[in-house]
Amino acid sequence: MVTGLVDVETLRWDGRRRELVLIDQRALPARLRYVRCGSVKDVAAAIRNMTVRGAPAIGVAAAFGMALAAMRSKARSREKLLEDLRKAREMLSATRPTAVNLFWALDRMMKKAESMSTDRQTIVSELVKEAQKIHDEDVQMNKTIGRYGAELIKDGARVLTHCNAGALATAGYGTAIGVIRYAHESGKKILVYASETRPRLQGAKLTAFELKKLKIPFYVVPDTAVAFLMSKGMIDCVVVGADRIIAKTGHVINKIGTLSAAINANHFKIPFYVAAPSSTIDLHKKVEEVKIEERAEDEVHYVGKTRITPTGVKAVNYAFDITPPELVTAVITEKGVFKPEELYRFLTG
Ligand code: MRU
Repeated sequence: MVTGLVDVETLRWDGRRRELVLIDQRALPARLRYVRCGSVKDVAAAIRNMTVRGAPAIGVAAAFGMALAAMRSKARSREKLLEDLRKAREMLSATRPTAVNLFWALDRMMKKAESMSTDRQTIVSELVKEAQKIHDEDVQMNKTIGRYGAELIKDGARVLTHCNAGALATAGYGTAIGVIRYAHESGKKILVYASETRPRLQGAKLTAFELKKLKIPFYVVPDTAVAFLMSKGMIDCVVVGADRIIAKTGHVINKIGTLSAAINANHFKIPFYVAAPSSTIDLHKKVEEVKIEERAEDEVHYVGKTRITPTGVKAVNYAFDITPPELVTAVITEKGVFKPEELYRFLTG
C-alpha cells in the first residue's frame, strides 16, 4: 500500500519538460505511479481511460490538454493555430460526456485563445497560465466549499459519502471530502462511511486511500448496505459531489448509486448534501439534454481480472444517475449554500 504525503498531487504541470503529470488513478491504492502527457492526444486518452477522473480534475486536465495542443501545433498563423485548438477541443469533448467541467474548461481555454491577437509564443504561454489558473482556482473553491459545508456537519457526525469526491477528483482538497476534511481539521469528531461504488470502486479504492492518508476515521461499506445502516440510525448526513448540476431545475447528476442514497436518505429523514464548485453548475442545459455516459459492460462482468458473471450474459452500465431536487437538502458551493431550486436565480441574478 502507498504511504507518504497527506496531500496528493492529482495533476501537475511540469514546466521544464512541458508535460502534464497525472497520478494514475487506475493503479491506486496498490501503487502510486504517474502518467506523463506530452500532447493533447495523451490527455484525451488519460481522461477516456480514467487515469484522471472526477469532474473538476477532468476539466483541469482538459485545460492543460488545450495548452499542449497550442504548444505542439505547427501552425504559422494565429488563424491556423485557432483551427488546431478547435480540433483539440473536439477531441477532448469526445472523451467523457457527462461532467460539465470538461466543457466549461474547454470553452474558457478557447475563449482565452480567441481573445488574444498576439504572436504564437505569447498565446502558448498565456494558455499554460490560464490552465494553471483553472487548477489553482479549483483548489481555492474547494477549500471555501469545505468551510461552508463544515458548518452543516455536527461534532460527532457520522457521514456517508459515495464515489470519490476528494483531492483525486479535483485539483486538490476535494469537494465532498473537502467538507468532511474541513470539519475534521476544525476539531470535530467525524466518522465516515464510504460506499464502495460498484463497478469501478472509486469509494473502496480512492476515497479509502484519501481518508486513510488524512487519518479521518472511516469504514468502507458495500453500496447495498446504505439503507440498512440508515435504518439503524448509523448515518447522520450524506455528502456527495456532482458531475453536473442543472441550475434551472436543481437536478444533480453524479456517480451511479447517488440516487439510491438520496432516496434512502429522504425515507429516513437524513440530510442529503451535494458539494460542488460553480464550474460544475450547468446554467444552460435541461436535464433531458444531458448525455448520461454508458461504459463498457466488462466493468460489471469483471472484478479486477476475475470474471464474476457467466460468459455470454449482458450487463447495463450507466456511469451516472440523476437525483431530483426534492431529494437534495442543499447544494454547497464556493458562493454559499443553496436550495437546489435557488441556484439559477442566485447565479444569474
Ligand atoms: O466516473 P468518475 O470517477 O469520473 O465519477 C466521479 C464522480 O461521480 C464524482 O462524484 C464527481 O465527479 C464529483 S468529484 C468532485
